Amino acid sequence: MSSHTQAPVKRITAPEITARKGKEPLVVLTAYSAPMAEILDDHCDVLLVGDSVGMVVHGLPNTIGVTLDMMVLHGKAVMRGSKRAFVVVDMPFGSYEAGPEQAFQNAVTLLKETGAQAVKVESGPTVAATIAYLVCRGIAVMGHVGLRPQAVNVDGGFRAKGRNQSERDKVMQEALASDAAGAFAIVVEGVAADLAGEITDMVKVPTIGIGASNACDGQVLVVDDMLGLFDWSPKFVRRYADLRGEIATAAAQYAKDVRARSFPAPEETYFAK
Ligand code: KIV
Repeated sequence: MSSHTQAPVKRITAPEITARKGKEPLVVLTAYSAPMAEILDDHCDVLLVGDSVGMVVHGLPNTIGVTLDMMVLHGKAVMRGSKRAFVVVDMPFGSYEAGPEQAFQNAVTLLKETGAQAVKVESGPTVAATIAYLVCRGIAVMGHVGLRPQAVNVDGGFRAKGRNQSERDKVMQEALASDAAGAFAIVVEGVAADLAGEITDMVKVPTIGIGASNACDGQVLVVDDMLGLFDWSPKFVRRYADLRGEIATAAAQYAKDVRARSFPAPEETYFAK
């Protein structure tokens, strides 16, 4: 028998992501667990361990309560489940806004503990300096402009951005500043198609849209939304499955079988020899 060692699967890198600007659209989904990461790995360029995990998995009303420990836990799981995709972990609210040094310490924790390749920050007006500080110290950073879920308490809810000129200017400024600061890609969330197109034209790095039209260089969705796990989803979500319905049907059938004692059947039972 001949033996040969298989070359390990190489993960996609940040420069490869950046090089996709204006080319084949980048495919991005969120992932929070090892089994889901394993399923998605073959199909996605980037797996985002989003702080949406707080709402999607932990039942929080928004992302404010998400902690660094939660991101470490889910980041580790996604790294264990995936081999090929580039993995980005969100920096949660309160872990980077105090300034570049706080951001650096917490980003180092995220990267060392999880093994992920990059962090994402919501790129408010003061965050560009932090992105530059991290990037020049060897940390790949993804920006996030437009609707910034961590600003929910200032904005009074999850509101699409760029509906008037001053808002459009702000979002554009945030995108340009993140680009100039060295972000390798920028999530653009909840903005009108024309603004998404203008941002995409103006920045050097790929834009990854969510609720931001097909003008962007790639798309991201929260995986549980696109799998139809919730009874409601925003207008911009396309549901590719109805897992909520399928799970409910399966649970109802299981309950029926247990109550009828038809589960477990003999072939699902151990017997003494
Ligand atoms: O937390 C998240 O899932 C995100 C995406 C929606 C972009 O930031």
